[in-house]
Amino acid sequence: MKLKKGTEIVVKIDSLVYGGRGIGSHEGMKVFVEDVVPGDTVKASLSRIKNNYAEAKLVELIEKSPQRIEPKCKHFGVCGGCKWQFLSYEDQCKVKEDQVRDAIVKIGHLDGALVQPIIPNETPWFYRNKMEVSFDTQNRLGLYPKGFHYEVFDMEECFLQSELMVEIVGKMREFQKKYKIPAYDSETHEGLLRNLIIREGKNTGECMVILVTSTGIFDHKNEFITLFKDDPRITSLYWTTVYQVPGQPTHTEEALLHGKPALTEILHLENGQKLEFDILPKAFFQTNTKQAEKLYSKVIELAGLTGDETVLDLYCGTGTIGLFCAHKAKEIVGIEENEQAVESARGNATKNGITNATFYLGRVEHRLSDLQHKPDVVIVDPPRIGLGEEVVNAVAAFGAKKVVYVSCNPSTLARDLAYFAGLGYFCESVTPVDMFPQTHHVESVAVVVRG
Ligand SMILES: C[S@@+](CC[C@H](N)C(=O)[O-])C[C@H]1O[C@@H](n2cnc3c(N)ncnc32)[C@H](O)[C@@H]1O
Repeated sequence: MKLKKGTEIVVKIDSLVYGGRGIGSHEGMKVFVEDVVPGDTVKASLSRIKNNYAEAKLVELIEKSPQRIEPKCKHFGVCGGCKWQFLSYEDQCKVKEDQVRDAIVKIGHLDGALVQPIIPNETPWFYRNKMEVSFDTQNRLGLYPKGFHYEVFDMEECFLQSELMVEIVGKMREFQKKYKIPAYDSETHEGLLRNLIIREGKNTGECMVILVTSTGIFDHKNEFITLFKDDPRITSLYWTTVYQVPGQPTHTEEALLHGKPALTEILHLENGQKLEFDILPKAFFQTNTKQAEKLYSKVIELAGLTGDETVLDLYCGTGTIGLFCAHKAKEIVGIEENEQAVESARGNATKNGITNATFYLGRVEHRLSDLQHKPDVVIVDPPRIGLGEEVVNAVAAFGAKKVVYVSCNPSTLARDLAYFAGLGYFCESVTPVDMFPQTHHVESVAVVVRG
């Protein structure tokens, strides 16, 4: 039968590939299907056909895999969030570890034995310390269903965030309805309410609530303040306005309406170290606090500092990794492009009595060439696009003895490890760390050493 778009085929799913899709074979051709687990036999409708692979949409589950479990959340299937709830946590970890190994072998052309056992979460639920929900023009407040960008569903429960976060979302939904405040419509550019961001200090119990609006008049600002100001759990209340003029870059302005400017969090590492971090509303902070403690513990262990080293902390965010290295290094130099993160990093050094750390604002790719410091160890933690050849070249040009690479994308990590290998830096280990249970995302920490 000639295969064309819309043709329905029966396919047995062999495994899950990076990105979360299942893969199986049909008449010798690889077929990718979403929303399936290994061992499922499904009827799927072809949506895209290429020379050596095809993509298909799930039509019917013909035979359930024994690996399938009942999802916990009532929004499962609609929500674009945690799509892996139908796999046990143990199976999720196994799949993630295999995916990292697969990337290391196929893309990085390295030995799969370098990949260490994944570091799992003690509790794979309620781990998120940051949540962003959106308002839509139908008076709903929640997350986007899979594939939607304008309409959200009313999020009534979520097992990735705390009860307090869900409670705040419910309160804001009632607030919008009570005062009939129109949501911002991104097509007409009318309306006011855009998003609600909630950040939590899991170890301090602090909570920051940020209401994001368009530039329209916010008549009910006082009522918004009243809604939260007497709640001792809410330690910061912000109102952020988005200024959007067609043809010009969007910019935002924040007003602190109540409480303190930053959210404070404390991290405890396995080596007994403990530091306190102030996080400004726009600054990056690892979303899974408990697992960030494990991730950073691993990074510090792998960096193997003795006290004499100059350490470069690239893509340093609020300075977390560099500051944990500070007491075991001669000096720390951080580079980060987000202004609030750099401000937070500098403040965090002072707050923790650290005097050997300097943080520079700027893009890594622009700042490296004129850096006066000569690093012994370089720690990098780039976004999903990874370092790329240019930054790998610039890092290797320092001649540091070791690079510790924290990555949220196994494909770009594997690509960059291959670049490092070409420059005489050899990979010693890659440790997957599960920062995002119930999703397909996986973090890894790799070490490369010179010569
Ligand atoms: C994955 S986060 C890591 C932050 C930090 N290491 C941590 O664990 O909290 C990546 C950081 O890189 C920053 N960033 C992204 N692209 C950058 C670039 N080209 N140059 C400098 N910083 C960048 C982001 O603002 C973000 O803070």
